[in-house]
Amino acid sequence: MITLSADPYARKARASGFRSRAAYKLFEINDKFSIFKKGQQIIDLGASPGGWSQVASRKVGSNGLVIAVDKAYLQEFKEKNIIIVFEDIFKKNLDEIIVGDYGKSDVLISDCAPNISGNYDKDHAIQSMLAHRAFELSIKVLYMGGSFVCKIFQGSETQEFVKSVKERFGTVKLFKPKSSRKQSSEIYLVAKDFIPESELFT
Ligand SMILES: C[S@@+](CC[C@H](N)C(=O)[O-])C[C@H]1O[C@@H](n2cnc3c(N)ncnc32)[C@H](O)[C@@H]1O
Repeated sequence: MITLSADPYARKARASGFRSRAAYKLFEINDKFSIFKKGQQIIDLGASPGGWSQVASRKVGSNGLVIAVDKAYLQEFKEKNIIIVFEDIFKKNLDEIIVGDYGKSDVLISDCAPNISGNYDKDHAIQSMLAHRAFELSIKVLYMGGSFVCKIFQGSETQEFVKSVKERFGTVKLFKPKSSRKQSSEIYLVAKDFIPESELFT
């Protein structure tokens, strides 16, 4: 069993000022798929405690913006280009609120996860709802050509979800970062080249 103090990613995160070891998963995803560019606007769903937002903040730089969304408390960031939206991602019209306030975004990342109950079927069902909601929001908030990164739990619904995402993005890959614990069923879906509805049948 890995304890927190024995976990090199947790130690590294603490030493480097990242709020979570999850930061390293996003670094790995970006190293492999080149998601972020300077000046972009990013929406980070399930952002608390904030490691992913910190990584995105560095990658987009001072001319970019990270919109960190969580239903759980997020401590204010010292990074000036991160703003906090304290909301449940299932809030009705969340997409309209975000687009109304900030306009469309270049990338939507979601590391949303339920509190693990230990009941695999229940946890998997909630994770699946979170991933579907993140996908639904991505369609509403992304510019054409945008990217979507989403945590999923591997299981019977994975291929069906991948198939749905492929209908709206040019490329879709599954990736398990080295920093993701081996015993965890989590894996990340990485989708690029968003196709807006207006371009679907052209
Ligand atoms: C694994 S943590 C995210 C860690 C984060 N990426 C980081 O780097 O620090 C999962 C987060 O998903 C959030 N979450 C779960 N369900 C949510 C929902 N319905 N709406 C908003 N956030 C949710 C939880 O509150 C939790 O903070």
